[in-house]
Amino acid sequence: MTSPSRRRWLAGAGAASLALGLSRCADEADAVVAVDMGPIDGWRERRWRLFEQARVIMARDAAGLFAMSATCPHQGCVVSPTAGAVCLPPQDGATSTTPTLCCACHGSAFDGEGLATSGPAAPQRLMHWRVVVEGGRVTVMVGARVAANVRAAE
Ligand code: FES
Repeated sequence: MTSPSRRRWLAGAGAASLALGLSRCADEADAVVAVDMGPIDGWRERRWRLFEQARVIMARDAAGLFAMSATCPHQGCVVSPTAGAVCLPPQDGATSTTPTLCCACHGSAFDGEGLATSGPAAPQRLMHWRVVVEGGRVTVMVGARVAANVRAAE
């Protein structure tokens, strides 16, 4: 049995409408946590959305569905989607239809794939997590790193 101290719990991570849930992934390393992002039908439109407590930005661009860590590579603050030039503090559920992200701590700006384009985080990028679509549901495997150009098989 796995020690509770080795588990990464993301309790309370969910927005009510998405019914986030947690389960350990039996065939992955201890650091990987499966986060349920709800039905695939809720992820058909182009957008970037922050799940603050899970520190995940779920997104769909022209290439498909993907997920990134919301942890800023500079000093670990939460990166958030932003619709305009003003970078606001992160709020759970913050959503944008434009591919622009920012970190309000020190003003780093990121493109839609999580590459820091300005500010002290540049030129680092957000880590991307594997996304699984199965049985009509979307799961982000937080901790299972993939390349930035990887999109979920739908
Ligand atoms: S922690 Fe994000 S810019 Fe410094």
